[in-house]
Amino acid sequence: MSSTKNLAIVGAQWGDEGKGKIVDLLARNFRIVARFQGGHNAGHTVIVDGSQFVLHLIPSGILHPGVVCVIGNGVVIDPAALFAELDLLSEQGIDTEDRILISDRAHLVLPYHRDLEKLAETRRGVNRIGTTSQGIGPSYEDKISRHGIRIGDVVGAISTSRLKAAVRGNVEACNRLIEADEDSEEWSAVLDTVVRLGPRLAPMVTDVSTYLDNAMRTGKSILFEGAQGAMLDVDHGTYPYVTSSNSTTGGICTGLGVGPRAINGVLGIVKAYTTRVGAGPFPTELVEGVGDQLRVFGSEFGATTGRPRRCGWFDSVIARHAVRVNGIDSLALTKLDVLDEFEEIYICTGYKCGGSILTSPPANIDQLASCVPEYEAIPGWCNEAKTSGIQNDKELPSAARYYLKRVEELTGVPISIVSTGAERSETIIRSGSLVAPWLT
Ligand code: GDP
Ligand code: IMO
Ligand code: MG
Repeated sequence: MSSTKNLAIVGAQWGDEGKGKIVDLLARNFRIVARFQGGHNAGHTVIVDGSQFVLHLIPSGILHPGVVCVIGNGVVIDPAALFAELDLLSEQGIDTEDRILISDRAHLVLPYHRDLEKLAETRRGVNRIGTTSQGIGPSYEDKISRHGIRIGDVVGAISTSRLKAAVRGNVEACNRLIEADEDSEEWSAVLDTVVRLGPRLAPMVTDVSTYLDNAMRTGKSILFEGAQGAMLDVDHGTYPYVTSSNSTTGGICTGLGVGPRAINGVLGIVKAYTTRVGAGPFPTELVEGVGDQLRVFGSEFGATTGRPRRCGWFDSVIARHAVRVNGIDSLALTKLDVLDEFEEIYICTGYKCGGSILTSPPANIDQLASCVPEYEAIPGWCNEAKTSGIQNDKELPSAARYYLKRVEELTGVPISIVSTGAERSETIIRSGSLVAPWLT
């Protein structure tokens, strides 16, 4: 049994639930914040005293000077994106020196992965996934097909012969697939680029599993930070309209090299409504009207690609699914303020599908797409008071409190944190909640 108290934070919808804000909020109570999957497809926005920080690869604990930020072997790393993010943080006055550790077992995302993704999406035609075009999927494909390139092949390698053969093989295979012309990548140029990454990466690279094991033995607490969300998980999400990693808590063990007992609590993040970027079924999507209002009130545009997010009402079917597949103990519900203007709010309680009512999402994508949500109407609080910026539970309008209570009843877990604005301070931490031990 681990002697420390470590908390996992995971998205419980289709990503963009506000994980970055909540991780930043809680990070000061931890010594380490560790990412275990995904890559720079993620976009986590944190706003502190009017300054905005958008994090893609770097854990959202970076704004707290005493926190060490770890990127595990389950993350795929585009070094160009990593360096750009480090440089931007430095321009914004954040000191990242000696505070970032990267696993020697993490796989690289290289420019040919983006070429392959473009080809795959073009070939899918109308069935395209609507990926973030960052090369994430092809990098994970290389990993699973066992010809990926790992950080440890670039930093600390005894010779470059394995690296050279791997880069050559991968670039030539890519060029054949994309029917490359004379403008395509030369394997030797890619190898040169990769080798030149070594000196800047080297000081950050370590055996993350051993580092975390030592940290836990010496009483340091860890916040495990998930990217994406349960419905984008490659196994438990709306396959094939998912990302290529396990964004649920199972990914923590494999993506960082820690045992299951290292996870002492799981906080799931949900928005007060639902959004999704990219293609794939979304039963509670509202195509016009309220959907457009949610997008405008919630500024629902992707932090990585700028794409408009699809919007709809809160779906307790997928939230319950997320609670189960992650072992979520408690929820943080964000963006409650975005519902401030509505006279009536709806929660999906089940799906009508082929003559029966489903209370968990079906695996078959066509079946899911044919599901019709069953809604429960809840009175809004627009005539009572706004929730925007509220920091105390007792100040919430009674209709908002009723809404939170119904979400708790329908998901089967309590809500520990309510977010009422994008600012770090615009948050209610409920007394006696799951996160209380980490705040003392
Ligand atoms: P993440 O990917 O889960 O970290 O979420 P994103 O950062 O991509 O998207 C959430 C967006 O909502 C960001 O722009 C946040 O600044 C913003 N946000 C987070 N919490 C709240 C909230 O309670 N109210 C409002 N209005 N905005 C919020
Ligand atoms: P955060 O961490 C929302 C979506 C893409 C696409 C699918 C596959 O900010 O919540 P990929 O590039 O991963 O192969 O795309 O997954 N997607 C996200 N949607 N938030 C994210 O991250 C996402 N990361 C990937 O839009 O539908
Ligand atoms: Mg995001």
